Amino acid sequence: MVRHHLSEDPNWWRQAAIYQIYPRSFKDSDGDGLGDIRGITSEVGYLASLNLDAVWLSPFYPSALADGGYDVADYRNVDPRLGTLVDFDEMVAALHDAGIRVFVDIVPNHSSNLHVWFQEALASEPGSPARERYIFRDGRGDNGELPPSDWPSHFAPSAWTRTTNPDGTPGQWYLHLFAPEQPDFNWDNPEVQEDFLTTLRFWSDRGVDGFRVDVAHALKKDLGEPFRSKPVFIDFDNPLSGDDVLFDRNEVHDIYRKWHQVFEEYTPPRVAVAEAWVRAERRVLYARPDELGQAFNFDLLLADFDASAFKRIITDNIALAKTEGSSSTWVLSNHDRVRHTTKYGLPAGYDLREWLLSNGLKLDVDYKQGLARAQAATMMILALPGSCYLYQGEELGLFEVANIPFNQVQDPIWERNHHTDKGRDGCRVPLPWSSQGTSFGFSTGQAHLPQPSAFARLAVDAQSGRDGSTLELYRTALKLRRELQSTEDYEWIETGNPSVLHFSRANGWQSVTNFGSANAALPPGQILLSSGQHDSGVLPGNTTIWLKR
Ligand code: NOJ
Repeated sequence: MVRHHLSEDPNWWRQAAIYQIYPRSFKDSDGDGLGDIRGITSEVGYLASLNLDAVWLSPFYPSALADGGYDVADYRNVDPRLGTLVDFDEMVAALHDAGIRVFVDIVPNHSSNLHVWFQEALASEPGSPARERYIFRDGRGDNGELPPSDWPSHFAPSAWTRTTNPDGTPGQWYLHLFAPEQPDFNWDNPEVQEDFLTTLRFWSDRGVDGFRVDVAHALKKDLGEPFRSKPVFIDFDNPLSGDDVLFDRNEVHDIYRKWHQVFEEYTPPRVAVAEAWVRAERRVLYARPDELGQAFNFDLLLADFDASAFKRIITDNIALAKTEGSSSTWVLSNHDRVRHTTKYGLPAGYDLREWLLSNGLKLDVDYKQGLARAQAATMMILALPGSCYLYQGEELGLFEVANIPFNQVQDPIWERNHHTDKGRDGCRVPLPWSSQGTSFGFSTGQAHLPQPSAFARLAVDAQSGRDGSTLELYRTALKLRRELQSTEDYEWIETGNPSVLHFSRANGWQSVTNFGSANAALPPGQILLSSGQHDSGVLPGNTTIWLKR
């Protein structure tokens, strides 16, 4: 393989293609059915063939897997089931040699309950410095039997869990916005702030180029008592003012300004992307040049396949990002959401949660339509200015696996919601690498989540080199994008057809997408790439074509 030299351009990330690896489901090197770091290293050639700028690794840290690794027991180590720090260093070196940079996931809102700090807190007295690293409070009611406030957990129901004292009597309560195994840190505590700076330096020193920041909007809370009520969680219709009790508080930005100073200690400066579930106007604040640099824009991931929705979201987000000196990001799938191939194949407005609970039996997903739309949407975002985040397996056209047997479900959402919400396992099923063999080449053992037989025809070896496959479409589109992309400018071109969106970039590069099902006229120009079959002069429904004029 040709050895690449990574540039020192401080803006390398502004129009990057970044591929999310969910390490436990990417590739297993040791036969235990769990993907690992060496598995990733063994597939650097594959990643290079996708023409990516970077990969982002979801957590690979020591964890009891109460929430797929987002319950971190040690922020500066590798889970022994996934490898060692030496394996990690080898992986980074191999990726860098292939011209691919590395983002790791930082989970600053909460740790695992197995983190040494939390164990120490449990063993310490109320009010002790060890408890002050987390959010412990006495309960309400005569005997402290009621939670300190009505705050709900994202994984339902209450965000508070009561502890048991060493002598067996009921003790204080602690806050967890997610599972009880994920106690929230107290970000008013300088020791917590300092420890995360150490973690950022630890990974930056090992060559990590960037960070994905988990629930970046939740770190600062109004902990003044009596606690303010917070009955509603995320309400996009109700823009937050920066003074909400739990989310998107103005002071959270002080944290990221400090992080940015650490980023500046390196060449090129490190960068980060915020996962902040807030409205676009507030989200872009996390991406300011003296903070994280980027923020995930989830608006397209939440939208239907609809021309007017896409146009509004794209126009607004590019403008907003520009106002704050950043570039927009684009996301259609990730490890938390139903895969977009499936989403676009369901009748509009169908309740995905209900469908998952039916184990996929009640309703036929129109996979063909879903895949055509997914490919068209992906080609459209790849032509836009800004960074695209792609989720492992979307390049294979993988679908949501709806029929994971209830007794094999891993997501804590399933238990915490009393078996009314199946959660996110369906998009986390291990990748198929070969159409034959145990776990389709993912592992020599049984995959940790069951793979459907239909993965055989979507396997990497079944698609590699095959004209018209989803994999080859991604490879070509990402290669062309790299060659064609220059400035961050773009311009809408009027089509006169409400189902068709057409825009141009510099140097005559154009992208045109037909969101409808009827054929539309294809604008003139040299065809560079099409997401589907088409006749001369025709832009079929659910299709994107790139042109050069
Ligand atoms: C967002 C992550 O993407 C999700 O997977 C996780 O459950 C929560 N944050 C809690 O860490």
